[in-house]
Amino acid sequence: DPVLRDLATAKGKYYGTALPAGRLTGTHGSVAAAQFGSVTAENEMKWGSVEPTRGSFSWTGADQIMSFAAANGQKVRGHTLVWHSQLPNWLANGTFGNDELRTIMTDHVTTQTARYKGRIDQWDVVNEALNEDGTLRASKFYTQLGESYIADAFRAARAADPAAKLYINDYNTDATGAKSNGLYSLVQRLQAQGVPIDGVGFQTHLIIGQVPATFQANLQRFADLGLDVAITELDIRMTLPATTERLAQQKADFKAVTNACLAVARCKGITVWGFSDAVSWVPDVFPGQGAATPYNENYQPKPAYYGIAEAL
Ligand code: XIL
Repeated sequence: DPVLRDLATAKGKYYGTALPAGRLTGTHGSVAAAQFGSVTAENEMKWGSVEPTRGSFSWTGADQIMSFAAANGQKVRGHTLVWHSQLPNWLANGTFGNDELRTIMTDHVTTQTARYKGRIDQWDVVNEALNEDGTLRASKFYTQLGESYIADAFRAARAADPAAKLYINDYNTDATGAKSNGLYSLVQRLQAQGVPIDGVGFQTHLIIGQVPATFQANLQRFADLGLDVAITELDIRMTLPATTERLAQQKADFKAVTNACLAVARCKGITVWGFSDAVSWVPDVFPGQGAATPYNENYQPKPAYYGIAEAL
């Protein structure tokens, strides 16, 4: 089979995958190592994973992902520093004054980026900051600190790891529309304030047959702001069962997404959110849907895999 990481590298891009630390060995580990040039910890670098109790850190899973990547010559996307979800309980349910909360947040960003300084290619500094209508989400951080929490998080990350490219990352921003326009305006405000933002991540959790017609143009308009862009959590789900027809549509869709990134010079690469249907968040979160990745549950390449390879 063609090697996605090599095909992508030849085009000046990377092709990556999300990976859980519990799946670094066996078939899952060997395919991850062979086929992908970048990895993202699926959960292990989230705040709730790394600081389950205030002031007591648990880096084991995150460190395992880092070691795996180093051993296999892979880039790492750090995911994620400030997000409303998967926070530790002490933080989600705790009550803090505004100054205290701001310090808790910036200390967290500093601690985590400093730990992996020089070894992370891209950090998702802020994840899912927006509502569907393009306004800012009422997270604990936004509600207490206002929009400035975003600038503060980016500044803390830049100070601690100047080499990492700093991203804002979100979903349902793939097409032009209210949410994507809200993100575009937010990024422009950050740039106007001199906030050190380098890139915009597009999660790109899609449904077969629904790759937005405006996807490439949308990536391009963010790139035209002088930013890198990346497809950070790609999967393309279908209603189960996976029929021949649905798999053929999915192949066309993976190919189209790959082509969109290839057509945008500042699109740095693509990460799939799991590469095998055996290990994917989709069936747990979208009942009745699944088969959203390029390999089947037995680690056989699906038509989608060949769609990616054909595009690359
Ligand atoms: C998901 C993981 O895949 C699941 O294992 C976990 O239970 C929930 O989070 N957007 C993101 C990712 O930014 O971190 C999410 O990952 C999927 C949606």
